[in-house]
Amino acid sequence: MLSIEGLTVAFGGLRAVDDFSLEIDRGIVLGLIGPNGAGKSTTINAITGFVRPTQGRISLAGKPLAGRSPQEILRAGLARTFQQAQLWAGMTVSQNLALPLEALGRSRASAHEVGEVAERLGIGDLLGLRPSALPFGRRRLVEIGRAIITKPAVVLLDEPGAGLTSAEKANLSRVMRDLAAADTSVLLVDHDMELVMNSCDQVVVLNAGRRLAAGLPKDIREDPAVIAAYLGTSQP
Ligand SMILES: Nc1ncnc2c1ncn2[C@@H]1O[C@H](COP(=O)(O)OP(=O)(O)OP(=O)(O)O)[C@@H](O)[C@H]1O
Ligand SMILES: [Mg+2]
Repeated sequence: MLSIEGLTVAFGGLRAVDDFSLEIDRGIVLGLIGPNGAGKSTTINAITGFVRPTQGRISLAGKPLAGRSPQEILRAGLARTFQQAQLWAGMTVSQNLALPLEALGRSRASAHEVGEVAERLGIGDLLGLRPSALPFGRRRLVEIGRAIITKPAVVLLDEPGAGLTSAEKANLSRVMRDLAAADTSVLLVDHDMELVMNSCDQVVVLNAGRRLAAGLPKDIREDPAVIAAYLGTSQP
């Protein structure tokens, strides 16, 4: 459904992503893992229009998206969160959640959809608060809410588990499985192997911009090439 073919992103002489291909089917959670600097965030940035691909094709259900603006890509059905939190401090949770709908000209539907998403994430009691009043894990859920409120075909999450407690990670895992069951595919980038292994149907490993391995979580965990790529890095 979401198809990435031969994606290359060069920053000067550095090929942060180098001829990388990836296919994400409908209704699955796909893990994209790899050591620091492997090119995971750059891949998400290229798919969602935040950096321009140097080469490659990106299409959603056959519709080409490479080189389009972030807003066009959001409208086409790809939404994301960021590695660094990106909520508007001066707005309430409810206003933060409604922003993407406004950007897409769908504000009339917003009160209903904000309520629905908040219920789904268990943050219905926080709608009137400002993000700064929330514990970190709750803020992360609001970011995910803001990504899924447009009902994307695929949501791309850049390290949503970072800084969460184990109970919050278990909840995050449930949220991702629920999304997949409701036909929103999830691309999960995270360093937490337990979260990745517990949540994903498939895992793809990126190393120095290139695909190192792909397969079922249990096979990836035991793959010698994957283990070797992580040796010497502080976090698996
Ligand atoms: N805007 C940019 N300009 C120049 N180099 C960049 C830019 N963004 C990323 N890079 C470089 O591209 C490479 C891949 O970075 P990227 O952030 O995609 O890695 P990552 O896999 O997300 O790592 P991490 O796990 O640490 O988040 C790194 O060497 C990084 O320094
Ligand atoms: Mg990153």
